[in-house]
Amino acid sequence: MSTPGDSSATQSASPIGRRSFVKGLSLASLGVALGVNAAASAEPASLTTPAAPARRRRYVIVGTGHRHELYRDAIENDFKDTAELVGLCDKNLGRIQVAQELSAKNGAKVPPGYLAADFDRMLAETKPDTVIVTTVDATHHEYLVRAMEQGCDVITEKPMTTQAETCQKIVDTTAKTGRRCRVTFNYRYSPPRTQVKDILMSGEIGDILSVDFHWMLNTFHGADYFRRWHSQKKNSGGLMVHKATHHFDLVNWWLSAVPVTVTAVGKREFYTPEMAKRMGLEGHHERCLTCPEKAKCGFLLDLEKSPRLKQLYVDQEKYDGYFRDRCVFRPDIDIEDTMNVIVGYDNGATLSYSLNAFNSWEGYTIAFNGTKGRLEHTIVENVYVNGTDTVQGGIKPGGVTTKVYPLRGPVRTVKPWTGSGGHGGGDAVMLSEIFGTNPAADKYLRASTEHAGAYSCLVGIAANRCFVTGQPVVIADLVKGLKKPDYTPMPTDDQPLPMPPQVDIA
Ligand SMILES: NC(=O)c1ccc[n+]([C@@H]2O[C@H](COP(=O)([O-])OP(=O)(O)OC[C@H]3O[C@@H](n4cnc5c(N)ncnc54)[C@H](O)[C@@H]3O)[C@@H](O)[C@H]2O)c1
Repeated sequence: MSTPGDSSATQSASPIGRRSFVKGLSLASLGVALGVNAAASAEPASLTTPAAPARRRRYVIVGTGHRHELYRDAIENDFKDTAELVGLCDKNLGRIQVAQELSAKNGAKVPPGYLAADFDRMLAETKPDTVIVTTVDATHHEYLVRAMEQGCDVITEKPMTTQAETCQKIVDTTAKTGRRCRVTFNYRYSPPRTQVKDILMSGEIGDILSVDFHWMLNTFHGADYFRRWHSQKKNSGGLMVHKATHHFDLVNWWLSAVPVTVTAVGKREFYTPEMAKRMGLEGHHERCLTCPEKAKCGFLLDLEKSPRLKQLYVDQEKYDGYFRDRCVFRPDIDIEDTMNVIVGYDNGATLSYSLNAFNSWEGYTIAFNGTKGRLEHTIVENVYVNGTDTVQGGIKPGGVTTKVYPLRGPVRTVKPWTGSGGHGGGDAVMLSEIFGTNPAADKYLRASTEHAGAYSCLVGIAANRCFVTGQPVVIADLVKGLKKPDYTPMPTDDQPLPMPPQVDIA
């Protein structure tokens, strides 16, 4: 049994081009192959469009699982006049072929595929400007470092990386090569979260002294982390890194501050073999597909029921032995489901944060306690399971609440900014900034570099250390040479404050 993060990729002598792609498909499905072949021979319309620029920016994607589709579809549809996908790479041959098939469905030229062992050759042969990394978290650094060393810019999914040592490597390589490293923190771009930044910047609640932030994952999305590669820290860094990197980045960006110290406790008490028994099962099992007690289990994920999950994972198990539906009660899981963290920031603010992965609803509550008032903000998200047709981070109708409470006086209920699609509309805004031409100057400075990527994942990495040692961790001890990211100016503690009006409380 291996995970997608294991380095057991098969060697390939030549890229998986159109010919072997169609051959591979014809073994599986002649009908699909014919459709692909016809589409693959059509040049994208943009190549003949007079308005198209002389040269489109060349991208390759490494990691052709679920998430890569966001970038592939953006390049091949909305931004096809300015961007071009020239290569695909993964350690799983089958998922490369599925990705090629999807390119064909987009009517784009089918990019050649390369196995992971041939990544360097892909760079040499396809000459990309930018490498997009959407592999398992713990492998991001390998591709970021190698791509920058070979002269490419890089875009990486969060978390930038999972260990302090690999974080140092990325920061050092970026400094040495001068290449651009972008970490795609899509949460920043979600309209209601951008609106929170706008209110904080306005000074309405003054300078922020403390933040209370509580993130809930439900027993659909939350449970899913315990089935997949994420369930082992060597792949994901645990939920403190994999998931909370989003949340720590939001706080860093919202406050325009960087973390200095971290203390934390974490445990796993819900997704355990004992819990399977408490819930009436005889015990844990290997996976849902073959589970003898599946009819009784409320955590069943039937991969065969979803054509997409079946195609992306079950049909590709023969290449790497990766099971997408492992039992959530397995004893070999080593990530936490219950986590509490205290963070101190360079501007004096403190954060009290919690993450629980077994809640009855998904979303978060956050409160900023400022010198002029308190901002309370809540988002309730829809049910989501990765790889299904559900929308990740989609907000429930009426699910956003934002209120400003001045120190004295009536509460102001804020009408939320809205958007649609993945992550509350954040994905679409971010993609147009990444792939669009001449994006407008962003007053919220949402684009983030390796330094913001580092400051967010390092809080989780520090928390993981605290879980083991019980000792506080100083962020500056983990990685050297970090620079404060380019954040917006915020209200500060040297500015005068209005005296709150007297209130007759007798
Ligand atoms: N920003 C977001 O909201 C968001 C949402 C989902 C996923 N992600 C991120 O996207 C990345 C991919 O997640 P996913 O959901 O697509 O997972 P996935 O399991 O569907 O895909 C991961 C892919 O990486 C491949 N892979 C594993 N190890 C590899 C290696 N050494 N070399 C090359 N390929 C390798 C696997 O074969 C698989 O195809 C993760 O870093 C995850 O954190 C971000």
